[in-house]
Amino acid sequence: MSSSMKMLGATSVAAALAACLWVLKSVASQPDAVAIERGRYLVRVAGCNDCHTPGYAESGGTVPENQWLIGTSVGWKGGWGTTYPSNLRLYMQRVTEDQWVTVAREQQMRPPMPWFNLRDMSEQDLRALYRFVRHLGPAGELAPAYVAPQEAPHGPAIQFPDAAN
Ligand code: HEC
Repeated sequence: MSSSMKMLGATSVAAALAACLWVLKSVASQPDAVAIERGRYLVRVAGCNDCHTPGYAESGGTVPENQWLIGTSVGWKGGWGTTYPSNLRLYMQRVTEDQWVTVAREQQMRPPMPWFNLRDMSEQDLRALYRFVRHLGPAGELAPAYVAPQEAPHGPAIQFPDAAN
């Protein structure tokens, strides 16, 4: 066999391999696309945007997707102190998908975060939600830190009635 024929053989094997890998990759990314779409749906209907996206509820849910879940600087003040809906775009960068499932199952967050809704979500939905937020990518700044009950909030805060504390 001439060396040019050998070259040709190697090139077509490489081309065939590349084609195979491409097919495998698109098959592998299929379930991910489905999970991302499911995650998008969950974020919409499970209310995550209502608190974690600035202006979402006030604008009737018209905030563009690239601004979703960046956290807010408006606090929620009650007997627990003042809490700030976290920037979930940054948070999801810090945890792996498996860590996220554990957090959602076990972590009791301060009010008014409905942590019990996360606890009761199916594992498949939790994973879908994670993949969607990771798909959006990191954005925005960290939300202000938690403020203890006896201390003043960092800025504007929604005050819960004392009776509910
Ligand atoms: C009623 C408002 C509200 C809703 C609705 C809400 N959150 Fe939260 N969330 C908060 C607040 C406030 C905090 C901060 C709690 C704290 O400081 O302990 C928080 C914290 C979190 C944290 C902890 C992040 C960290 O930095 O440790 C995660 C994760 C989270 N929320 C995810 C979600 C998801 C996912 C949804 C939708 C299923 C959701 N939240 C819906 C208000 C809300």
